Amino acid sequence: MYYSDELVEEVRAKNNIVDVISGYVRIQKKGSNYFGLCPFHNEKSPSFSVSANKQMYYCFGCGAGGNVFTFLMEYENYSFQEAVKFLADRAGVSLPQEENTKQARARDSKRARLLEVNREAARYFYYQLRGKTGQAGLAYLQKRALSQETIHRFGLGFANVSGDDLTRYLKSKGYEDKLIQEAGLATCDEKYGTHDKFWNRVMFPIQDGNNRVIGFGGRVMGDGKPKYLNSPETMVFDKSRNLYGLNFARSSRAGNIILCEGYMDVIAMHQAGFNQAVASLGTAFTVGQAALLRRYAQEVILAYDSDGAGVNAALRAIGILKEAGLTGKVLNLEPCKDPDEFIKSQGAEAFRERLRQAENSFFFELRMLERDYDLTDPEAKTRFHREIAKKLCGFSEEVERENYIQAVAEKYHLGFENLRRLVRSYAAQTGYAQPAVRPRSGIQKKSSAQENRRKPQRLLLTWLAEEPSLYPKIRRYISPGDFTEELYCRIAQRLFEDLEKGEVNPAAVISLFEDEEQQRQAAEVFNTKLSDLSTRAEQEKAFHDILLSVKRMGVEEAGARAGTDVSALSRMIESKKALEELSKTHISLD
Ligand code: UTP
Ligand code: MN
Repeated sequence: MYYSDELVEEVRAKNNIVDVISGYVRIQKKGSNYFGLCPFHNEKSPSFSVSANKQMYYCFGCGAGGNVFTFLMEYENYSFQEAVKFLADRAGVSLPQEENTKQARARDSKRARLLEVNREAARYFYYQLRGKTGQAGLAYLQKRALSQETIHRFGLGFANVSGDDLTRYLKSKGYEDKLIQEAGLATCDEKYGTHDKFWNRVMFPIQDGNNRVIGFGGRVMGDGKPKYLNSPETMVFDKSRNLYGLNFARSSRAGNIILCEGYMDVIAMHQAGFNQAVASLGTAFTVGQAALLRRYAQEVILAYDSDGAGVNAALRAIGILKEAGLTGKVLNLEPCKDPDEFIKSQGAEAFRERLRQAENSFFFELRMLERDYDLTDPEAKTRFHREIAKKLCGFSEEVERENYIQAVAEKYHLGFENLRRLVRSYAAQTGYAQPAVRPRSGIQKKSSAQENRRKPQRLLLTWLAEEPSLYPKIRRYISPGDFTEELYCRIAQRLFEDLEKGEVNPAAVISLFEDEEQQRQAAEVFNTKLSDLSTRAEQEKAFHDILLSVKRMGVEEAGARAGTDVSALSRMIESKKALEELSKTHISLD
């Protein structure tokens, strides 16, 4: 933690969550809350709520939630410290530098310097493209049918033929050799000294979600090798966690994301109106990138090259998408090689039609698999059908699996029952796939044993936050130590302190955690709806049951932990007494 709790709370309190979120999401007042379309999952009717009273947001669809810091961490990909800094700026709160540890300060300023030198380089390339020495680059981009507006929008530039003019320019601006090298903009060797990494190339600045330049891709003029040269990974450039074009695609609302291979493909698609297109950064698609995409869309349409390498890359990506819980589809670009070519030769409307016809990724996989078998040979055909059955075991959800068995049976003219039996026999050997774990999604059911323990703890906290007047009635029976879930225990500590003082502040409780997932879980506590039990007696019984079950778990845990420690044992005995007393006591909710 770099900043004190008080300071973090001051920053939070001075940034009204309704105002901040309004800057990103259109929300409308309904009753005491505001509602809008959730920016963290794709939906058609609003289930994203923002509460002015609680100073929290919560999505009833996907379970995203938290305070104003969480929102910026999720939306802008900020770290907790970055979110605090951003909001301190916004509200005019000055953050003391002294509170930074030396190391953190050094790291922050290094990152900031790298981003700065990248931006300066991007600016330099940009002006070169428009100057005399950049004519070849501009002509090339025009030949590839990019408009002035597109060239400007993507900040395209040019690295001159000369070997060290960028380095000289950056040095004249006060950047040291070492930083320029660390940013991957120059290399140093005995023969040439320090010289530019990129030359004679059209330059594509790579931006993160916040439009900060984190690296570059450069395409050579003519047939030089390599065709594309990319910045190496640096402190600010993590190729597995960024995507080219995401800074635009994230706000596209197209309902899907198009994933392709090349920078030119992304740009061509955006120019044709498909601003949901992104590409990986000269490396294969990664799990981290899938997780990133899951924030913006449920469906990813693959628009990889139609050659062999493209097909293999698509097959790999399909697996990664499935793991991440995303729906994958595959675009058919025949007879063209890539999206850029397709749009140029067939036009945007034809491309839109291809998007509509994009193939279900499972059928694509089967079609690719089929090519390895000679289906005129009954032997090979049987092996192919066995492979299909094996793949069908990959669907963990029964309804989905059955639907696929049916669809596959129809498509490949197989008897439904036969195929189903075959699938079952494979499942008997290896089992069906386990459902993928999706840690960031709140609606996924937790493992039931764990959830059974967590639920009463969560509900008790929810109840106390909603009705603080209950606290004096229960404080003698229960303590934060009874909450066996670490996260709930920390929340209880803070909430009970607040309740002692008579001032509950849920949004401040969330700032206790620096991790987004923990913040989400904390927000869940304050946004769970207590079920509508009609009579007072029913409510009282429910509350009593919850209380008892939390206390019982607390006592059990204390017993297990105490071992032979005398003072722990005596505390445990006290606790047990409290449990017995509680079980006999009626607690009125009035
Ligand atoms: P392609 O060779 O398919 O590029 O590589 P492209 O976009 O069709 O290129 P143009 O149309 O001839 O300009 C696709 C992507 O693979 C990476 C780049 O990210 C490129 O955009 N790549 C390719 C490299 O990183 N290095 C290379 O040498 C080639
Ligand atoms: Mn191309």
